[in-house]
Amino acid sequence: MGLSNKQLPKLGFLYLDYVLRFFDHSNFKGWPNKIETVTYHWKNDKDRFIKEVKRKKIDVLIGNIPATAYETFREIARALPHVRFIPSMDTQFSNKSKENVTRFAWKYDLPIPKTYVYYKHDNADKFLKKCKYPKIIKKSYGPSNYGGYFVHKVDSYKEARDLYDKKQYHPQYFQDFAPMEADIRVMLIGHKPVCAFWRRAPEGEWLTNTSQGGSMDYNDVPKNVLDLAVKVSKAAKAEYWACDVAYGIDGKVRILECATAFAAFPYIRDWIGQYMMWSLSEGRFRKPHAPMFNWEELGKLDSSILRTMRHIHFGSFNASYDGAYFGKKRKLFGDNEVYLHVLDNEYKMHDVKRRWSEEWPSEIYNYQDNFALKSSKKSSSKEEVSNEKNAPHPTKDESSESQSQESKITKEELSDFLTSVDGIGSKKVNKIVEHFGNVDEVVGVLHQNTSVLTEVKGITKKLASKVEKAWKKLLK
Ligand SMILES: Nc1ncnc2c1ncn2[C@@H]1O[C@H](COP(=O)(O)OP(=O)(O)O)[C@@H](O)[C@H]1O
Ligand SMILES: [Mg+2]
Repeated sequence: MGLSNKQLPKLGFLYLDYVLRFFDHSNFKGWPNKIETVTYHWKNDKDRFIKEVKRKKIDVLIGNIPATAYETFREIARALPHVRFIPSMDTQFSNKSKENVTRFAWKYDLPIPKTYVYYKHDNADKFLKKCKYPKIIKKSYGPSNYGGYFVHKVDSYKEARDLYDKKQYHPQYFQDFAPMEADIRVMLIGHKPVCAFWRRAPEGEWLTNTSQGGSMDYNDVPKNVLDLAVKVSKAAKAEYWACDVAYGIDGKVRILECATAFAAFPYIRDWIGQYMMWSLSEGRFRKPHAPMFNWEELGKLDSSILRTMRHIHFGSFNASYDGAYFGKKRKLFGDNEVYLHVLDNEYKMHDVKRRWSEEWPSEIYNYQDNFALKSSKKSSSKEEVSNEKNAPHPTKDESSESQSQESKITKEELSDFLTSVDGIGSKKVNKIVEHFGNVDEVVGVLHQNTSVLTEVKGITKKLASKVEKAWKKLLK
Protein backbone atom coordinates (compact mmCIF):
# COMPACT_ATOMS: atom_id res chain seq x y z
CA MET A 1 0.00 0.00 0.00
CA GLY A 2 0.99 3.57 -0.44
CA LEU A 3 2.85 5.45 -3.12
CA SER A 4 5.84 4.18 -5.06
CA ASN A 5 9.08 6.14 -5.17
CA LYS A 6 7.99 7.72 -8.42
CA GLN A 7 4.58 8.71 -7.13
CA LEU A 8 5.84 10.34 -3.94
CA PRO A 9 5.64 14.12 -3.85
CA LYS A 10 8.92 15.99 -4.08
CA LEU A 11 9.80 17.42 -0.70
CA GLY A 12 11.77 20.53 0.13
CA PHE A 13 12.90 22.05 3.41
CA LEU A 14 12.04 25.67 3.83
CA TYR A 15 14.92 27.42 5.58
CA LEU A 16 15.58 31.05 6.37
CA ASP A 17 18.94 32.65 6.98
CA TYR A 18 19.57 33.28 10.69
CA VAL A 19 16.62 31.13 11.74
CA LEU A 20 17.03 27.91 13.66
CA ARG A 21 16.10 24.89 11.57
CA PHE A 22 13.31 22.79 12.98
CA PHE A 23 13.77 19.88 10.55
CA ASP A 24 16.61 18.42 8.58
CA HIS A 25 17.22 15.22 6.63
CA SER A 26 17.82 13.18 9.77
CA ASN A 27 14.17 13.63 10.77
CA PHE A 28 13.11 11.96 7.51
CA LYS A 29 15.16 8.82 7.81
CA GLY A 30 14.14 6.33 5.14
CA TRP A 31 12.63 8.77 2.67
CA PRO A 32 13.82 7.22 -0.59
CA ASN A 33 14.04 10.32 -2.76
CA LYS A 34 16.17 13.42 -2.57
CA ILE A 35 14.82 16.11 -0.30
CA GLU A 36 15.57 19.58 -1.63
CA THR A 37 16.48 22.62 0.41
CA VAL A 38 15.39 26.16 -0.33
CA THR A 39 16.71 29.02 1.76
CA TYR A 40 15.11 32.41 2.02
CA HIS A 41 17.72 35.16 2.30
CA TRP A 42 15.42 38.03 3.41
CA LYS A 43 15.22 41.47 1.85
CA ASN A 44 13.54 41.25 -1.53
CA ASP A 45 14.34 37.61 -1.97
CA LYS A 46 10.77 36.66 -2.78
CA ASP A 47 10.99 36.28 -6.54
CA ARG A 48 14.25 34.38 -6.46
CA PHE A 49 12.84 32.05 -3.82
CA ILE A 50 9.73 31.37 -5.89
CA LYS A 51 11.83 30.61 -8.94
CA GLU A 52 14.02 28.20 -7.03
CA VAL A 53 11.01 26.26 -5.73
CA LYS A 54 9.63 26.04 -9.26
CA ARG A 55 12.95 25.04 -10.76
CA LYS A 56 13.38 22.26 -8.21
CA LYS A 57 9.81 21.10 -8.90
CA ILE A 58 8.99 20.92 -5.24
CA ASP A 59 5.50 19.74 -4.30
CA VAL A 60 5.70 20.09 -0.53
CA LEU A 61 7.63 22.74 1.39
CA ILE A 62 8.26 21.84 4.99
CA GLY A 63 9.17 24.25 7.74
CA ASN A 64 8.16 26.91 10.21
CA ILE A 65 8.02 30.53 9.16
CA PRO A 66 9.00 33.13 11.74
CA ALA A 67 6.69 36.03 12.54
CA THR A 68 8.75 38.56 10.61
CA ALA A 69 8.49 36.61 7.36
CA TYR A 70 4.90 35.48 7.72
CA GLU A 71 3.25 38.07 5.46
CA THR A 72 5.90 37.64 2.78
CA PHE A 73 5.30 33.91 2.78
CA ARG A 74 1.57 34.38 2.44
CA GLU A 75 2.42 36.12 -0.84
CA ILE A 76 4.90 33.44 -1.81
CA ALA A 77 2.33 30.72 -1.15
CA ARG A 78 -0.11 32.43 -3.51
CA ALA A 79 2.54 32.54 -6.20
CA LEU A 80 3.08 28.80 -5.76
CA PRO A 81 -0.49 27.50 -5.87
CA HIS A 82 0.51 23.90 -6.53
CA VAL A 83 2.88 23.72 -3.62
CA ARG A 84 1.63 22.44 -0.31
CA PHE A 85 3.15 24.17 2.70
CA ILE A 86 3.50 22.11 5.85
CA PRO A 87 2.37 23.54 8.16
CA SER A 88 -0.04 25.52 6.01
CA MET A 89 0.02 29.30 6.07
CA ASP A 90 -3.36 29.23 7.77
CA THR A 91 -2.05 26.95 10.48
CA GLN A 92 0.94 29.25 10.94
CA PHE A 93 -1.34 32.28 11.36
CA SER A 94 -0.83 32.00 15.11
CA ASN A 95 2.93 32.09 14.73
CA LYS A 96 2.86 35.70 13.67
CA SER A 97 1.59 37.47 16.75
CA LYS A 98 -0.28 37.18 19.99
CA GLU A 99 -3.03 39.18 18.37
CA ASN A 100 -3.40 36.43 15.77
CA VAL A 101 -3.58 33.78 18.49
CA THR A 102 -6.35 35.83 20.03
CA ARG A 103 -8.29 36.23 16.79
CA PHE A 104 -7.94 32.53 16.16
CA ALA A 105 -9.28 31.77 19.63
CA TRP A 106 -12.13 34.24 19.24
CA LYS A 107 -13.19 32.65 15.98
CA TYR A 108 -13.29 29.13 17.41
CA ASP A 109 -14.58 30.12 20.79
CA LEU A 110 -11.52 28.73 22.55
CA PRO A 111 -10.95 29.84 26.14
CA ILE A 112 -8.28 32.51 26.64
CA PRO A 113 -7.75 35.16 29.33
CA LYS A 114 -10.01 38.09 28.47
CA THR A 115 -8.04 40.02 25.88
CA TYR A 116 -8.14 43.56 24.53
CA VAL A 117 -6.57 44.67 21.27
CA TYR A 118 -6.47 48.39 20.53
CA TYR A 119 -5.22 50.05 17.39
CA LYS A 120 -6.54 53.41 18.58
CA HIS A 121 -4.34 54.26 21.51
CA ASP A 122 -6.75 56.97 22.70
CA ASN A 123 -9.41 54.36 23.20
CA ALA A 124 -7.01 52.10 25.02
CA ASP A 125 -6.14 54.97 27.33
CA LYS A 126 -9.80 55.61 28.11
CA PHE A 127 -10.26 51.94 28.89
CA LEU A 128 -7.14 51.69 31.02
CA LYS A 129 -8.34 54.62 33.12
CA LYS A 130 -11.47 52.84 34.23
CA CYS A 131 -10.61 49.14 34.08
CA LYS A 132 -9.80 46.74 36.88
CA TYR A 133 -6.23 45.80 37.70
CA PRO A 134 -3.92 43.91 37.54
CA LYS A 135 -3.61 43.64 33.78
CA ILE A 136 -1.01 41.83 31.71
CA ILE A 137 0.44 43.94 28.91
CA LYS A 138 2.17 42.11 26.09
CA LYS A 139 3.98 42.99 22.95
CA SER A 140 1.79 41.34 20.35
CA TYR A 141 4.11 40.95 17.43
CA GLY A 142 7.54 39.56 17.07
CA PRO A 143 9.54 36.49 17.65
CA SER A 144 8.04 34.46 20.42
CA ASN A 145 10.10 32.54 22.87
CA TYR A 146 11.45 35.61 24.48
CA GLY A 147 10.33 33.83 27.59
CA GLY A 148 8.20 36.53 29.12
CA TYR A 149 10.55 39.36 28.28
CA PHE A 150 7.80 41.34 26.55
CA VAL A 151 5.15 40.45 29.09
CA HIS A 152 4.45 42.86 31.93
CA LYS A 153 2.12 42.95 34.89
CA VAL A 154 0.68 46.34 35.75
CA ASP A 155 -1.23 47.09 38.93
CA SER A 156 -2.64 50.51 38.18
CA TYR A 157 -3.46 52.98 35.44
CA LYS A 158 -0.25 54.84 36.19
CA GLU A 159 1.88 51.75 35.71
CA ALA A 160 0.09 50.94 32.47
CA ARG A 161 0.52 54.52 31.23
CA ASP A 162 4.21 54.60 32.13
CA LEU A 163 4.81 51.30 30.43
CA TYR A 164 3.08 52.30 27.21
CA ASP A 165 4.87 55.66 27.16
CA LYS A 166 8.13 53.83 27.40
CA LYS A 167 7.45 50.83 25.18
CA GLN A 168 5.39 52.21 22.29
CA TYR A 169 3.82 48.84 21.58
CA HIS A 170 1.40 48.74 18.67
CA PRO A 171 -1.24 47.47 18.74
CA GLN A 172 -1.88 47.85 22.43
CA TYR A 173 -2.59 44.34 23.56
CA PHE A 174 -3.47 43.40 27.10
CA GLN A 175 -5.27 40.79 29.14
CA ASP A 176 -6.96 40.26 32.43
CA PHE A 177 -4.59 38.71 34.89
CA ALA A 178 -5.51 35.03 35.22
CA PRO A 179 -3.95 33.65 38.38
CA MET A 180 -2.70 30.18 37.61
CA GLU A 181 -1.30 27.20 39.39
CA ALA A 182 1.00 26.52 36.48
CA ASP A 183 0.92 26.38 32.76
CA ILE A 184 1.18 23.27 30.68
CA ARG A 185 2.88 22.86 27.34
CA VAL A 186 1.24 20.21 25.18
CA MET A 187 2.81 19.10 21.91
CA LEU A 188 0.65 17.35 19.33
CA ILE A 189 1.13 15.50 16.09
CA GLY A 190 -1.94 14.96 13.94
CA HIS A 191 -3.99 16.23 16.91
CA LYS A 192 -2.62 13.54 19.21
CA PRO A 193 -0.80 14.72 22.33
CA VAL A 194 2.72 13.31 22.20
CA CYS A 195 4.33 15.24 25.02
CA ALA A 196 3.10 17.41 27.85
CA PHE A 197 4.66 19.01 30.88
CA TRP A 198 3.90 21.43 33.66
CA ARG A 199 5.78 24.65 34.03
CA ARG A 200 5.58 26.22 37.42
CA ALA A 201 6.58 29.71 38.37
CA PRO A 202 9.24 30.12 41.07
CA GLU A 203 7.84 30.73 44.55
CA GLY A 204 6.08 34.08 44.74
CA GLU A 205 6.48 34.84 41.04
CA TRP A 206 3.89 34.77 38.29
CA LEU A 207 5.89 34.11 35.12
CA THR A 208 6.07 30.40 34.38
CA ASN A 209 8.59 30.51 31.54
CA THR A 210 11.36 28.08 32.37
CA SER A 211 13.86 30.68 31.26
CA GLN A 212 12.57 32.75 34.19
CA GLY A 213 13.62 30.07 36.63
CA GLY A 214 10.41 28.09 36.55
CA SER A 215 10.45 24.35 37.08
CA MET A 216 8.91 21.62 34.99
CA ASP A 217 7.53 18.13 35.44
CA TYR A 218 5.64 15.58 33.38
CA ASN A 219 3.23 14.04 35.85
CA ASP A 220 -0.53 13.73 35.67
CA VAL A 221 -1.36 16.34 33.10
CA PRO A 222 -5.13 16.63 33.49
CA LYS A 223 -7.64 15.46 30.92
CA ASN A 224 -9.25 18.86 30.43
CA VAL A 225 -5.87 20.30 29.45
CA LEU A 226 -5.20 17.59 26.87
CA ASP A 227 -8.73 17.86 25.54
CA LEU A 228 -8.39 21.60 25.09
CA ALA A 229 -5.05 21.18 23.30
CA VAL A 230 -6.62 18.66 20.91
CA LYS A 231 -9.49 21.02 20.21
CA VAL A 232 -7.10 23.87 19.46
CA SER A 233 -4.95 21.72 17.19
CA LYS A 234 -8.03 20.63 15.26
CA ALA A 235 -9.23 24.22 14.89
CA ALA A 236 -5.80 25.13 13.49
CA LYS A 237 -5.84 22.06 11.21
CA ALA A 238 -2.29 21.58 12.38
CA GLU A 239 -0.02 18.79 11.24
CA TYR A 240 1.97 19.44 14.40
CA TRP A 241 1.35 21.92 17.12
CA ALA A 242 2.22 23.18 20.58
CA CYS A 243 -0.17 24.76 22.95
CA ASP A 244 0.47 26.46 26.30
CA VAL A 245 -2.48 26.07 28.57
CA ALA A 246 -2.87 28.02 31.80
CA TYR A 247 -4.24 25.90 34.61
CA GLY A 248 -6.16 28.49 36.59
CA ILE A 249 -6.49 28.65 40.34
CA ASP A 250 -10.20 28.82 39.57
CA GLY A 251 -9.86 25.38 37.94
CA LYS A 252 -10.46 26.76 34.47
CA VAL A 253 -8.12 26.12 31.57
CA ARG A 254 -7.14 28.88 29.15
CA ILE A 255 -4.85 29.07 26.16
CA LEU A 256 -1.84 31.31 26.57
CA GLU A 257 0.03 30.56 23.39
CA CYS A 258 -0.09 28.21 20.46
CA ALA A 259 2.14 27.78 17.44
CA THR A 260 3.89 25.38 15.14
CA ALA A 261 7.27 26.79 16.12
CA PHE A 262 8.39 25.63 19.53
CA ALA A 263 11.35 24.10 21.25
CA ALA A 264 11.15 20.34 20.82
CA PHE A 265 13.51 17.51 21.61
CA PRO A 266 14.95 15.83 18.50
CA TYR A 267 12.97 12.62 19.07
CA ILE A 268 9.76 14.67 18.76
CA ARG A 269 10.94 16.17 15.50
CA ASP A 270 11.71 12.61 14.34
CA TRP A 271 8.12 11.65 15.12
CA ILE A 272 6.85 14.63 13.17
CA GLY A 273 9.06 13.63 10.23
CA GLN A 274 7.78 10.05 10.39
CA TYR A 275 4.24 11.33 10.62
CA MET A 276 4.69 13.39 7.45
CA MET A 277 6.34 10.47 5.68
CA TRP A 278 3.38 8.30 6.58
CA SER A 279 0.84 10.89 5.50
CA LEU A 280 2.55 12.01 2.28
CA SER A 281 3.24 8.44 1.19
CA GLU A 282 -0.40 7.57 1.81
CA GLY A 283 0.49 4.89 4.25
CA ARG A 284 3.58 3.39 2.75
CA PHE A 285 5.74 4.41 5.68
CA ARG A 286 4.89 3.51 9.23
CA LYS A 287 2.97 5.95 11.33
CA PRO A 288 4.85 6.72 14.54
CA HIS A 289 3.31 5.25 17.62
CA ALA A 290 3.55 7.64 20.53
CA PRO A 291 1.49 6.11 23.32
CA MET A 292 -0.48 8.37 25.59
CA PHE A 293 1.52 9.43 28.62
CA ASN A 294 4.75 8.22 27.06
CA TRP A 295 6.05 11.53 28.35
CA GLU A 296 5.69 10.38 31.92
CA GLU A 297 8.07 7.51 31.15
CA LEU A 298 10.48 9.49 29.02
CA GLY A 299 10.35 12.31 31.53
CA LYS A 300 12.09 10.05 34.03
CA LEU A 301 15.18 10.37 31.89
CA ASP A 302 17.59 13.17 32.36
CA SER A 303 16.92 15.97 29.89
CA SER A 304 20.47 15.73 28.58
CA ILE A 305 19.57 12.22 27.43
CA LEU A 306 16.32 13.38 25.90
CA ARG A 307 18.21 16.02 24.02
CA THR A 308 20.35 13.38 22.33
CA MET A 309 18.07 10.35 21.95
CA ARG A 310 16.85 9.81 18.41
CA HIS A 311 14.19 7.77 16.66
CA ILE A 312 12.51 6.50 19.78
CA HIS A 313 10.15 3.71 19.03
CA PHE A 314 7.27 2.25 21.03
CA GLY A 315 5.58 -1.02 20.23
CA SER A 316 1.82 -0.88 20.00
CA PHE A 317 -0.37 -2.67 22.46
CA ASN A 318 -0.78 -6.38 22.05
CA ALA A 319 -3.31 -7.94 24.40
CA SER A 320 -1.78 -11.35 24.83
CA TYR A 321 1.76 -10.11 25.02
CA ASP A 322 1.58 -6.82 26.89
CA GLY A 323 -1.62 -7.53 28.70
CA ALA A 324 0.16 -8.94 31.68
CA TYR A 325 1.97 -5.69 32.23
CA PHE A 326 -0.08 -2.92 30.66
CA GLY A 327 -3.34 -4.64 31.39
CA LYS A 328 -2.86 -3.85 35.04
CA LYS A 329 -1.52 -0.38 34.53
CA ARG A 330 -4.34 2.01 35.05
CA LYS A 331 -4.39 5.71 35.44
CA LEU A 332 -6.75 8.20 36.96
CA PHE A 333 -7.80 10.28 33.99
CA GLY A 334 -10.68 12.71 34.19
CA ASP A 335 -13.22 11.09 36.48
CA ASN A 336 -12.23 7.52 35.72
CA GLU A 337 -9.49 5.01 36.05
CA VAL A 338 -8.46 3.96 32.57
CA TYR A 339 -6.09 1.57 30.88
CA LEU A 340 -3.42 3.50 29.05
CA HIS A 341 -3.77 1.59 25.78
CA VAL A 342 -7.46 2.43 25.69
CA LEU A 343 -6.56 6.10 25.64
CA ASP A 344 -4.62 5.60 22.42
CA ASN A 345 -7.90 4.78 20.74
CA GLU A 346 -9.49 7.85 22.15
CA TYR A 347 -6.64 10.19 21.21
CA LYS A 348 -5.90 9.22 17.65
CA MET A 349 -3.20 10.54 15.39
CA HIS A 350 -5.16 11.94 12.47
CA ASP A 351 -4.02 12.32 8.90
CA VAL A 352 -4.18 16.08 8.34
CA LYS A 353 -4.90 16.71 4.68
CA ARG A 354 -4.09 19.63 2.50
CA ARG A 355 -6.71 22.34 2.20
CA TRP A 356 -7.21 24.58 -0.79
CA SER A 357 -8.99 27.62 0.53
CA GLU A 358 -7.49 30.49 2.53
CA GLU A 359 -8.97 30.90 5.95
CA TRP A 360 -6.96 33.94 7.03
CA PRO A 361 -6.28 36.07 3.93
CA SER A 362 -3.97 38.97 4.68
CA GLU A 363 -6.24 41.52 3.02
CA ILE A 364 -8.50 41.05 6.00
CA TYR A 365 -6.35 39.69 8.79
CA ASN A 366 -3.08 41.53 8.48
CA TYR A 367 -4.32 44.16 10.91
CA GLN A 368 -0.82 45.28 11.72
CA ASP A 369 -0.11 46.58 8.24
CA ASN A 370 -3.67 47.44 7.41
CA PHE A 371 -3.91 49.55 10.55
CA ALA A 372 -0.30 50.56 10.94
CA LEU A 373 0.72 53.74 12.70
CA LYS A 374 0.35 56.55 10.20
CA SER A 375 3.63 58.27 10.81
CA SER A 376 5.64 55.14 10.85
CA LYS A 377 5.69 52.59 8.14
CA LYS A 378 8.43 51.06 10.17
CA SER A 379 6.07 49.46 12.62
CA SER A 380 4.88 47.37 9.74
CA SER A 381 4.92 43.64 10.15
CA LYS A 382 6.72 43.32 6.86
CA GLU A 383 10.31 42.32 7.14
CA GLU A 384 11.86 45.72 7.39
CA VAL A 385 11.01 46.19 11.03
CA SER A 386 12.93 48.89 12.76
CA ASN A 387 12.57 51.27 15.70
CA GLU A 388 9.13 52.28 16.81
CA LYS A 389 10.17 55.65 18.15
CA ASN A 390 7.59 57.68 16.28
CA ALA A 391 4.65 58.96 18.21
CA PRO A 392 1.55 56.91 17.62
CA HIS A 393 -1.02 58.33 15.22
CA PRO A 394 -3.32 55.41 14.75
CA THR A 395 -5.38 55.56 11.63
CA LYS A 396 -8.18 53.11 12.22
CA ASP A 397 -9.14 50.45 14.64
CA GLU A 398 -11.44 47.51 14.81
CA SER A 399 -14.53 49.68 14.97
CA SER A 400 -13.82 51.30 11.64
CA GLU A 401 -12.33 48.33 9.94
CA SER A 402 -13.94 47.21 6.74
CA GLN A 403 -15.08 43.66 7.13
CA SER A 404 -15.86 43.34 3.47
CA GLN A 405 -14.89 39.81 2.64
CA GLU A 406 -13.81 38.98 -0.85
CA SER A 407 -16.96 38.23 -2.78
CA LYS A 408 -17.64 34.59 -2.10
CA ILE A 409 -18.96 32.10 -4.57
CA THR A 410 -22.17 30.42 -3.51
CA LYS A 411 -23.01 26.77 -3.95
CA GLU A 412 -25.49 27.70 -6.67
CA GLU A 413 -22.91 29.70 -8.61
CA LEU A 414 -20.38 26.92 -8.31
CA SER A 415 -22.95 24.41 -9.44
CA ASP A 416 -23.97 26.58 -12.41
CA PHE A 417 -20.36 26.83 -13.44
CA LEU A 418 -19.51 23.15 -13.07
CA THR A 419 -22.63 21.87 -14.79
CA SER A 420 -21.85 24.17 -17.70
CA VAL A 421 -18.99 21.79 -18.43
CA ASP A 422 -19.97 18.87 -20.64
CA GLY A 423 -19.95 15.68 -18.61
CA ILE A 424 -20.72 17.19 -15.21
CA GLY A 425 -24.18 17.03 -13.79
CA SER A 426 -25.55 18.04 -10.42
CA LYS A 427 -24.80 14.62 -8.97
CA LYS A 428 -21.12 15.04 -9.74
CA VAL A 429 -21.17 18.56 -8.35
CA ASN A 430 -22.40 17.19 -5.05
CA LYS A 431 -19.74 14.51 -5.08
CA ILE A 432 -17.05 17.12 -5.68
CA VAL A 433 -18.23 19.39 -2.89
CA GLU A 434 -18.53 16.43 -0.56
CA HIS A 435 -15.04 15.23 -1.40
CA PHE A 436 -13.35 18.54 -0.70
CA GLY A 437 -15.53 19.45 2.24
CA ASN A 438 -17.12 22.71 1.17
CA VAL A 439 -17.58 25.22 -1.64
CA ASP A 440 -14.55 27.34 -0.63
CA GLU A 441 -12.27 24.34 -0.84
CA VAL A 442 -13.52 23.50 -4.33
CA VAL A 443 -12.99 27.09 -5.45
CA GLY A 444 -9.46 26.82 -4.04
CA VAL A 445 -8.86 23.71 -6.12
CA LEU A 446 -10.17 25.47 -9.23
CA HIS A 447 -7.83 28.37 -8.62
CA GLN A 448 -4.81 26.30 -7.80
CA ASN A 449 -4.77 22.84 -9.26
CA THR A 450 -7.74 21.45 -11.16
CA SER A 451 -5.99 18.11 -11.70
CA VAL A 452 -6.79 17.32 -8.08
CA LEU A 453 -10.41 16.97 -9.18
CA THR A 454 -9.51 13.52 -10.47
CA GLU A 455 -9.49 12.37 -6.85
CA VAL A 456 -13.26 12.37 -7.20
CA LYS A 457 -14.69 9.21 -8.67
CA GLY A 458 -15.93 9.75 -12.20
CA ILE A 459 -13.75 12.79 -12.94
CA THR A 460 -11.21 11.87 -15.58
CA LYS A 461 -8.09 13.80 -16.49
CA LYS A 462 -9.79 14.96 -19.62
CA LEU A 463 -12.79 16.23 -17.74
CA ALA A 464 -10.57 18.02 -15.25
CA SER A 465 -8.77 19.84 -18.01
CA LYS A 466 -12.09 20.86 -19.53
CA VAL A 467 -13.00 22.33 -16.17
CA GLU A 468 -9.70 24.17 -16.06
CA LYS A 469 -10.30 25.73 -19.45
CA ALA A 470 -13.80 26.80 -18.53
CA TRP A 471 -12.60 28.26 -15.24
CA LYS A 472 -9.91 30.31 -16.92
CA LYS A 473 -12.45 31.58 -19.42
CA LEU A 474 -14.82 32.51 -16.63
CA LEU A 475 -12.14 34.45 -14.78
CA LYS A 476 -11.41 36.46 -17.88
N1 LIG B 1 -3.20 36.77 31.29
C1 LIG B 1 -2.24 36.27 32.08
N2 LIG B 1 -2.43 36.13 33.40
C2 LIG B 1 -1.45 35.65 34.21
N3 LIG B 1 -0.24 35.27 33.78
C3 LIG B 1 0.03 35.35 32.47
C4 LIG B 1 -0.95 35.87 31.54
N4 LIG B 1 -0.41 35.85 30.32
C5 LIG B 1 0.84 35.37 30.46
N5 LIG B 1 1.12 35.07 31.74
C6 LIG B 1 2.39 34.50 32.24
O1 LIG B 1 3.43 35.05 31.46
C7 LIG B 1 4.14 34.03 30.77
C8 LIG B 1 4.56 34.55 29.41
O2 LIG B 1 3.44 34.90 28.64
P1 LIG B 1 3.26 34.42 27.17
O3 LIG B 1 1.97 34.98 26.66
O4 LIG B 1 3.42 32.96 27.12
O5 LIG B 1 4.48 35.19 26.42
P2 LIG B 1 5.94 34.70 25.94
O6 LIG B 1 5.87 34.77 24.46
O7 LIG B 1 6.88 35.70 26.49
O8 LIG B 1 6.17 33.31 26.46
C9 LIG B 1 3.19 32.86 30.71
O9 LIG B 1 3.87 31.64 30.59
C10 LIG B 1 2.45 32.98 32.03
O10 LIG B 1 3.22 32.44 33.08
MG1 LIG C 1 4.99 31.67 26.58
